[in-house]
Order: sequence, then structure tokens, then C-alpha cells
Amino acid sequence: MSEENLPSEPPVPHKRRVRYRGKNPRRFEEKYKEHGSDTATIAKVVAAGKTPAGTHRPIMVAEIIEVLAPQPGNLAVDCTLGYGGHAQEILTKILPDGKLLGLDQDPIELPKTEARLRAQGFSDNVFSTHRSNFAGLPQILAAQEIAGADVILADLGVSSMQIDDPARGFSVKFSGPLDMRMNPQRGQPVSALLKKIQPAALAQLLMQNADEPKAVQLGSALAGKSFATTHELAEAIRAALPHVPKEECHLNIRRVFQALRIAVNDEFSALDNLLRNLPACLKPGGRVAILTFHSGEDRRVKKAFINGHETGIYSAISQDIIRATPEEQRANPRSAPAKLRWARRANV
Ligand SMILES: C[S@@+](CC[C@H](N)C(=O)[O-])C[C@H]1O[C@@H](n2cnc3c(N)ncnc32)[C@H](O)[C@@H]1O
Repeated sequence: MSEENLPSEPPVPHKRRVRYRGKNPRRFEEKYKEHGSDTATIAKVVAAGKTPAGTHRPIMVAEIIEVLAPQPGNLAVDCTLGYGGHAQEILTKILPDGKLLGLDQDPIELPKTEARLRAQGFSDNVFSTHRSNFAGLPQILAAQEIAGADVILADLGVSSMQIDDPARGFSVKFSGPLDMRMNPQRGQPVSALLKKIQPAALAQLLMQNADEPKAVQLGSALAGKSFATTHELAEAIRAALPHVPKEECHLNIRRVFQALRIAVNDEFSALDNLLRNLPACLKPGGRVAILTFHSGEDRRVKKAFINGHETGIYSAISQDIIRATPEEQRANPRSAPAKLRWARRANV
């Protein structure tokens, strides 16, 4: 058939871009130049110490590569693939002949990350993705008939794509449905948890997950209530603490959000499982690095590594926590609370 005889394609309707007020877009969905990979706009956003919408800047990359020391031919596991920044760096070190398994429980971001890494030339011979909680790592390795990994990385918590997207309900800044699940297909959103929970149980949760000093007061004010959006919850926290100055109250709000996020994602049980399973998932001499973002996570990692060292499972562990350099903290404020610890499995 000649070109002229081909049925003509219907015209593609022109889609208007989201309009925004003022000089710069403020809302996540208005930042179409960042979403659309406009390199000049993205470079400007990064230079201003911000994370472009829909992306994530990997933290302490050089430090992680140094402690994991990935080599060509290594089998690597990234337990928290996210945007794939760390995975990409590790992949360049383990090729040729190496392979990286990337796990993530987020069904919304994982396919996008897989597509990005495939577009960069990482085929399924060298890179596979697994939509799974990292608590299930032993089962994933067994299904692939892998006896153990040379390197394992876990960069805990949530990605910038998740935090910055108001539709995911993690954001204190912009109003969105009060959800906060990394995997919205499992468990209950924060709104449902708050509606059902008793004041004493909520106070305990706020204390345990975020060391919240006003846990009892906030437990009574918030438990059993219905909040549809993140802003409604933030407003209720402010109303419950009328004498707390504004800046201080912002910290209460952030701690409550953190505690509830940890609860609905069952983050501590997943981490405890991973820490228990790690020695069996590493080859003798294999290395693991874990990035934590608050004391509840770091305490667990520190304890598991010290116990493993004392019992001879790990031949070496980090003596001190490693922090992002002042330059990185300035360039990416989200790296400021990060703490890196590592361990090496004994050769037996
Ligand atoms: C801080 S981000 C990782 C960013 C990544 N290192 C990068 O360079 O883009 C954390 C990611 O881990 C995922 N995650 C958190 N807890 C998890 C768990 N228990 N199992 C699987 N994925 C998890 C989140 O969905 C998120 O995508």
C-alpha cells in the first residue's frame, strides 16, 4: 500500500498545559517542565538545592560505593530501588557479567523506574525489578536460585517522588488524601487508622515511632476522628497545641506524620525482618550498607550489626555512622538527617 492510500491518523488533540499563577509553578502537577525532563529547568531546580518534581536525588553515593565496593561480575541487591539512582551507580561497577535485583513495594513508581533504566540500556540480563517488600528478600533470592548476594543496599523511608506527590498523601506542604501508603494496594490509609484507634494506643504509637513529646495530648485530640486530607490533620494538630509557637508546632506536625507513616507501612517490622535475614542473604565476604533517616531506624541497624559482629556473623562493621558531607547537605537538604552504616559477612 502506498503512503497516500494509508488510512489517515485522526489528529492528536492538543493538550493544554496546566496553567499556574505567578512566575514559577508551585504545585507538583504544574511543574510540567521538570516532569517532562526539561534539562535546563531541572539544572536550575537542583542548583537551588531542590529536588525536581517526580525525581529523587540519591544520597551519599560515593560513600555507599566505597563501603560496598561493587566489582565486575558481582550479584547486587538494591532493596529500595526508588528512582534507581544508587542502582544505576552500582550497575556501572558490576558490569560486565554482574546483575542487580531491584526491589520496591511501590507499584506506582516501580514501572517508571524500570522503564528509565531499560531506556539507559540495562537489559533484563543485568537488571531485574521485583515488586516486593524487602522483608521477602530470602524468597526472591530462592526463586532466582541465588545462594547469596555480594552487595546489598537499603536506603530506608520514602522517595522524593512519593513525598512530593500530593496524591500519595505524604505531603504536609500540599493538601492531599490522608493515605501515606507506599503500596496503596495493601493495608489501610492513615485516615482509616486514625478513625479506629484509641487515644492511649495512638499516644503510644506517636511516642514509639517518633519520640513525640506531646504524644498524650495529641493522642486524645486525634484518635477516633475523621480527617480526609493531610491539611485537615495538620490543622487539627495545630488546634490541639494552641500554646505551642508556630515553628515548634511544625516539628510536632512532622513527627506525627512520620509516626503515622511508619505505622501504616509497618516499617519497623519490615526492617527487623530484613536485619534478621541479611546474613543468610549475603555470600561469605558480602557487604551490606543501610541508610537510615531517624533514630528508630538507626537504633535497630546499629543493634543488629553489633550483635552480628559479636557473634561472628559479621567480620567487620562500621565503627561510627557516616554522614553526608556539608556540601551535599547544602546541595540536597534531604541528605541532612541520613546516617550510613555497613557490615561485612564473615568468610565462613
Ligand atoms: C529513599 S527511597 C530510595 C531511593 C533510591 N535509593 C534512589 O536512589 O532513587 C526508598 C524507596 O524504598 C521503598 N521502600 C521503603 N520501604 C520498603 C520496603 N519495606 N520494601 C520495599 N520497598 C520499600 C519506597 O517505596 C521507596 O521507593
